[in-house]
Amino acid sequence: MSFPTKEVLRVAVTGAAGQIGYSLLPLIARGNMLGATQRVELRLLDIEPAQKVLEGVRFELQDCAFPLLGDVVITHEPQVAFDGADVAILCGAFPRKPGMERKDLLLTNAKIFSEQGRIIGDVASPHCRVLVVGNPANTNALILATAAKGKIPADQITALTRLDHNRAIAQVALKAGAPVASVSNVIIWGNHSGTQVPDVNSAVVNGQPARQAANDDAFFDGDFLGLVQQRGAEVMKLRGLSSAASAAKAIVDHVHDWILGTAPGTFVSMAVISDINSYKVPAGLMYSFPVQCSAGTWTIVDGVTVSPKVQELMEATTAELLEERSQAGI
Ligand code: NAD
Ligand code: LMR
Repeated sequence: MSFPTKEVLRVAVTGAAGQIGYSLLPLIARGNMLGATQRVELRLLDIEPAQKVLEGVRFELQDCAFPLLGDVVITHEPQVAFDGADVAILCGAFPRKPGMERKDLLLTNAKIFSEQGRIIGDVASPHCRVLVVGNPANTNALILATAAKGKIPADQITALTRLDHNRAIAQVALKAGAPVASVSNVIIWGNHSGTQVPDVNSAVVNGQPARQAANDDAFFDGDFLGLVQQRGAEVMKLRGLSSAASAAKAIVDHVHDWILGTAPGTFVSMAVISDINSYKVPAGLMYSFPVQCSAGTWTIVDGVTVSPKVQELMEATTAELLEERSQAGI
């Protein structure tokens, strides 16, 4: 379904009292996400005990006097938050506690995302574009797509791997001694987890193949992979909190490019629903692929050369996503 042109777009953000919310909301209100002249209104959802904090966030948004920002509604009721939403960004999730297995986290969050998927299907605009950020993001997005089925098509639901993509771009730029703006077409394949596959084989720096520009294959075939895969864990170790400013920037990039379009000749990484035709990935997974976007639609880029090593790693991340899907009972 095409994404409409509207004078005011309604953006729902969940987990809005959290860390990512605090970095993200000013970027949205300033026009970084939907365009420098696009007016927006915000529907902010968080759980009941977080309403006081959320009220403080709302006051601050008012105090910023953003010219593009209209109404800001805060609520603990998903029906209110998603009502008529044009874009929904889902950061609200149960955090992993010490000793908690990934599977326990998955099952706890499955409840949140299936309930919210059902409600989005019932009350959001039929053209609503949904971005799932809360972890495990890919499988939460699949759970949400299953719950919203018949009301919001699966191709309007995506998960965030743009942070991994941006991390890879930054590392390529550092290695090549080039500005980040000159780097494009890195790829993140698969899951937003330690099994993700950062791939620079199609990347370019100022139009030159990245491997040639950086002249360090040993790095790209070795340390680079772990560096990008484990960057979130490293930040968490250092800050004692997970990435928030960089996650907010990645969310803005993801939604911006999805709705306003990717730059000509370039692609970005997004976790989208897999079909039977793409890169030997089984159908029905939220898998990160290289995509090109235009006006709220995405297309998986065809014909990317996949090296044997990348293929092997893609199979491992596929296996993890299949396991998560089966643990979620889908
Ligand atoms: P945070 O703990 O600071 O904030 C999460 C917020 O969600 C809290 O305010 C909490 O009250 C709220 N929440 C919990 N259950 C909710 C529910 N049912 N409905 C609405 N709100 C609810 O966490 P954060 O640092 O903002 O991160 C949010 C999520 O994003 C986490 O799951 C984190 O792991 C994930 N994350 C993903 C990426 C990515 O690239 N995909 C990157 C960074 C963080
Ligand atoms: C990240 O990539 O920084 C986060 O997904 C880490 C986390 O578990 O919140």
